[in-house]
Amino acid sequence: MTDASTQADAWLDRSRARLGTTTLGPRAEQIGRVEEVGDGIALVSGLPDVRLDELLRFDRGQFGFAQVLERDRVGCVLFDDVDAIQAGDTVRGTGDVVRVPVGPGLLGRVVDPLGRPLDGKGPIVAETMEPIERPAPAIIDRDLVTQPVQTGLVVVDTLFALGRGQRELIIGDRAIGKTTVAIDAIINQKDSDIVCVYIAVGQKSSSVRRAIDAIHGQGAAERSIIVVAGAAGSPGLQWIAPFAGFTMAEYFRDRGRHALVVIDDLTKHAASHREIALLTRQSPGREAYPGDVFYVHARLLERASKLSKAKGGGSLTALPIAETDAGNLSAYIPTNLISITDGQIVLDAKLFHEGQKPAVDVGTSVSRVGGKTQSHALRAAADTLRLDYAQFLELEMFTRFGGMPDARVRDQLTRGARIRAILEQPQHAPLRLADEVALVLAVQAGLLDSLSLPGVIEFRRGLGEALDRNAPNAVSQIQKTGSLDDTLKQALQEAMKKYAASMVPAKGAQP
Ligand SMILES: Nc1ncnc2c1ncn2[C@@H]1O[C@H](COP(=O)(O)OP(=O)(O)OP(=O)(O)O)[C@@H](O)[C@H]1O
Ligand SMILES: [Mg+2]
Repeated sequence: MTDASTQADAWLDRSRARLGTTTLGPRAEQIGRVEEVGDGIALVSGLPDVRLDELLRFDRGQFGFAQVLERDRVGCVLFDDVDAIQAGDTVRGTGDVVRVPVGPGLLGRVVDPLGRPLDGKGPIVAETMEPIERPAPAIIDRDLVTQPVQTGLVVVDTLFALGRGQRELIIGDRAIGKTTVAIDAIINQKDSDIVCVYIAVGQKSSSVRRAIDAIHGQGAAERSIIVVAGAAGSPGLQWIAPFAGFTMAEYFRDRGRHALVVIDDLTKHAASHREIALLTRQSPGREAYPGDVFYVHARLLERASKLSKAKGGGSLTALPIAETDAGNLSAYIPTNLISITDGQIVLDAKLFHEGQKPAVDVGTSVSRVGGKTQSHALRAAADTLRLDYAQFLELEMFTRFGGMPDARVRDQLTRGARIRAILEQPQHAPLRLADEVALVLAVQAGLLDSLSLPGVIEFRRGLGEALDRNAPNAVSQIQKTGSLDDTLKQALQEAMKKYAASMVPAKGAQP
């Protein structure tokens, strides 16, 4: 009884103190009104002072943001609970932009683009809230892209090395392994210093489930954040998802750490941008996209960067994904994205259906940052690989129509077929740097020429174990320093000779 009365007294005291500091008087507030609502968009009148991207609050606590400002109307993109909003509802500006939680508390979590948990693991412990639209680093604050990101995919690391701070587009038709390439790159970071953000925009729930299972199931959960705006979500959530994911990654970049962002995919994002634009009655341009779709994606991807030493030396690498239609790279969104990014990994449907997985088209893929981002060990080992492979592809085409090639050409064909075999890789099985280096050395030294093609696959499967057994010091040295000298090269070659000898060579191996 006495306890309760002292508590009540204390509460009264606090209330009086607060009343004393509160200034009473008239306060001006703008209240808007919903004119029209539908398809995730509300047209609002009566908010003349609202600014672009401002967060707006509706009657029953729903949120949206101002995307289009007209003379007497604001086009507001809604986040959720769309059906509960009706014409005539009141709307207030919040004076703030859309913000998402950032910080290490997000690692290992699955969240929606507003940072709300989707994994049932309790609330997110955020360090702070940051706006989803942040300016890209200035030129003076940037450094050249020179450090590698190991993806663990032989075809990418040897031929199209990815650098920290680079933007590399993964592009190809539907269902030919685009997501798998990106997920494998994320899985390979489980023992590295890179934090990964996987952003699913407009993907089927089953695809998102598979991506989450792969990342979490392969032990990369603690190093990754998964942001999901599913196909069933509002276009507003899909639209902000890449921006929100970049903000979450920038937290790490700005603290001198390294981040890798996968956006799966920007074609769906462009579609949600088009949907919003058409619903807010902006004039359509090519393929009915509004004129600013290039600017939206350029603004987003410019935030990928390698920061200068003065800014902590952190980096943010972006792997946007784009879908093509029947391999058509010259459609509007693909050409836009190709011109914004620093290179592209092109996946080819024909290769995929022939069984070459990952189905990377070596002819049209390119990394415009150049070989300097490649780890020294791989550069030393793979210097002529690309040329040898390109020559092989040409030769193969010419000899396809019959004719008995001479011995030199036959050797080249045998070698080329083995290069193609080592560029194949099962999903979710990224290789260590040392294994990749060894594999490339093996094919170039002709160690694989006597093996049949299934034998080459067998060789690759057991290679890591054999190296650990026969050359553990060389492996740990390459893993540590990322470089290769003659002694290490010799050690690897010796180890592999021993290993290859223990395998049964196929009789009369032919390509
Ligand atoms: N390297 C690989 N080895 C074996 N199977 C693979 C490989 N890469 C992809 N696949 C298989 O191919 C199928 C399609 O892959 P994925 O979902 O990555 O393609 P996508 O291009 O992202 O498809 P979508 O267009 O639907 O997004 C999946 O079933 C996947 O398991
Ligand atoms: Mg996919």
